[in-house]
Amino acid sequence: MSENTLSTAATGETNQRRILVTSALPYANGSIHLGHLLEHIQTDIWTRFQRLRGNECYSVCADDAHGTPVMLKAQELGITPEEMVARTRAEHHQDLLDFHVEYDNYYVTHSPENKAICEEIYHRLDDAGYISKRVINQLYDPQKEMFLPDRFVKGTCPSCGAEDQNGDSCDVCGATYSPTEVKEPRSVVSGATPVLKESEHFFFDLPQFEGMLKDWIRSGALQEEMANKLQEWFEEGLQQWDISRDAPYFGFEIPGAPNKFFYVWVDAPVGYMASFKNYCDQHNVDFDSFWKADSDAELYHFIGKDITYFHCLFWPAMLEGAGYRKPTGVNIHGFVTVNGAKMSKSRGTFIKGRTYLDHLNPEYLRYYFASKLGDGVTDIDLNFTDFAQKVNSDLVGKVVNIASRCAGFITKRFDGKLSDNILEPALLKEFQDASDSIANLYERRRYHQAIREIMTLADKANQFIDANAPWVTIKEEGKEAFTHDVCSMGINMFRMLVVYLKPVLPILADKAEAFLNDSLTWSSTQSALTGHAINKFKPMMQRVEMEKIDAMVDASKESLAAAEPAINPDSPLAKDPISEEITFDDFAKVDLRIARIAKAEHVDGADKLLRLELDLGGETRQVFAGIKSAYAPEALEGKHTVMVANLAPRKMRFGLSEGMVLAAGPGGEDLYIMEPHEGAKPGMRVK
Ligand code: MSP
Ligand code: ZN
Repeated sequence: MSENTLSTAATGETNQRRILVTSALPYANGSIHLGHLLEHIQTDIWTRFQRLRGNECYSVCADDAHGTPVMLKAQELGITPEEMVARTRAEHHQDLLDFHVEYDNYYVTHSPENKAICEEIYHRLDDAGYISKRVINQLYDPQKEMFLPDRFVKGTCPSCGAEDQNGDSCDVCGATYSPTEVKEPRSVVSGATPVLKESEHFFFDLPQFEGMLKDWIRSGALQEEMANKLQEWFEEGLQQWDISRDAPYFGFEIPGAPNKFFYVWVDAPVGYMASFKNYCDQHNVDFDSFWKADSDAELYHFIGKDITYFHCLFWPAMLEGAGYRKPTGVNIHGFVTVNGAKMSKSRGTFIKGRTYLDHLNPEYLRYYFASKLGDGVTDIDLNFTDFAQKVNSDLVGKVVNIASRCAGFITKRFDGKLSDNILEPALLKEFQDASDSIANLYERRRYHQAIREIMTLADKANQFIDANAPWVTIKEEGKEAFTHDVCSMGINMFRMLVVYLKPVLPILADKAEAFLNDSLTWSSTQSALTGHAINKFKPMMQRVEMEKIDAMVDASKESLAAAEPAINPDSPLAKDPISEEITFDDFAKVDLRIARIAKAEHVDGADKLLRLELDLGGETRQVFAGIKSAYAPEALEGKHTVMVANLAPRKMRFGLSEGMVLAAGPGGEDLYIMEPHEGAKPGMRVK
């Protein structure tokens, strides 16, 4: 007899739910990085939790194969897009597996299943009158003979005149515009000047779904804050959605429309269905029962906040229009930042999954992300000092330590067997009673709170061991049985903690199961092991070493240098030539001043701008600066810099900008503000 049921408390495994879970499909033209991993780990923890609870839960993902960037990248590599996608898919899948992220199917959107379902959905939408055609004007690269997506046009900002800006927005002034408005436009693909060209496009009638979408968004499918955000989009008005692209395009041809292809964002979410279909066909699972309009199965998509529009407007509308069910929930997360700033290639904090794996244990990252993930959309900061400290203190110092403190005595002194007696049933019951609350937190994706509760229990277990000091009593006469009971209590508490952590730490759980000679599911917490033989304890987790983290950051810098040789090694001037000559008088007109950055903050709705309050020694100016991709606001506050103080104020979407700060570099994260030498005071003139 090895299992002694202490409690008859319900385990929550009565009604088995049927659940399908997805993560957003990574594009097939880049590597999996720590940002992607936040999402896959969040999804994987949830899926493992559901299975541990006894629910029928499937998870699928795939590589997102189609679109212009993938097509061009393959051309650059001199291979077919199919070949490139096959390679990348295999690499992505292996990266995920090595982080113990296990999908039932990791497929690819360039598949026969996806083509078939896309065509079917398209026909249904067309038959129902949701598709229309209209001729539009678009920029076209006459040399490369292709239409150019916004991101593939660059030129001078129509609003402020800054050169070398993207086709859809300006880094310098924050203006957004259409690529046809850009001055001196050029194609990023060939450098040629684009021309306007007419083409017939297909449109999906999104506005028809407004009522349905408004109801669905408030049905509990979305986090409150996201539902509010969508409300703003309704107020701006829903538009017809352009779903076609002209050849050359890597994608699926639209039926009956030669040389017209589905826009990648049409077939990408259908890829969720297709990946599941491919799985169902091989495993005898009923696909239709998950996707039919009146399905009673649950469907959840885990995504990042940047792709909300596609998942919360277009996708449910497409499903509804084609007679399928809509998602039960779209679970949206924020972005990963590293040490308080956007992941940066130059700082070595743009870390690929593979580079991480070369240096560190994947379970550290799973645990760290879990300890920070809530159900909201705030960004998640990976701070390396905090990371090392948390893993070392919680996992190594608290959890594994419980087993290592008790196991030796059991093995050496008690024949490897736990005692028949439970020393403190009330304490054990406390561990059991936490089951519902922890389960509820996992269910609601409040992993950080679940982890906090689990660590509180781990503290209690350690306090129990400290108070009873088995390493002392083992030497005292007549205390044998007591020591045996204390160590057995310790092992039982460890066992319950492992169950609670199993969705997050599957490998640690495997090792613990081998040690405990037991297999653990959620309901295991409701019983305890008595008179049960355990195995010899082996170390289960190493401490995080800071040197390994440093090496990983260094390797991230190196891999970039190796991957992207400078186009012209001789001089940066070759890429950015010295401007036309000006007179001294011209120069003297520019009033440059030392300014102290009194305040820096994010601007709601601006991708590139920070709002700065600049202290000129008596006067305060507000400036919107396009430096968000290079600096976290906290890093700027208190610094001195140089500003143009007599620039005419400019009204921007976000408020008045009263000057400009000076910064060097090509842009993006590779941008550096000017700092004066020590001693320069706010307000001083720069000459
Ligand atoms: N291919 C589309 C998704 C199609 S889903 C039908 C796509 N791919 S992606 O590779 O750019 O992003 C995949 C997922 O990773 C998205 O949910 C995105 O939000 C997420 N992340 C990408 N960078 C991220 C961070 N830095 N932090 C957190 N998540 C991030 O979009
Ligand atoms: Zn501009």
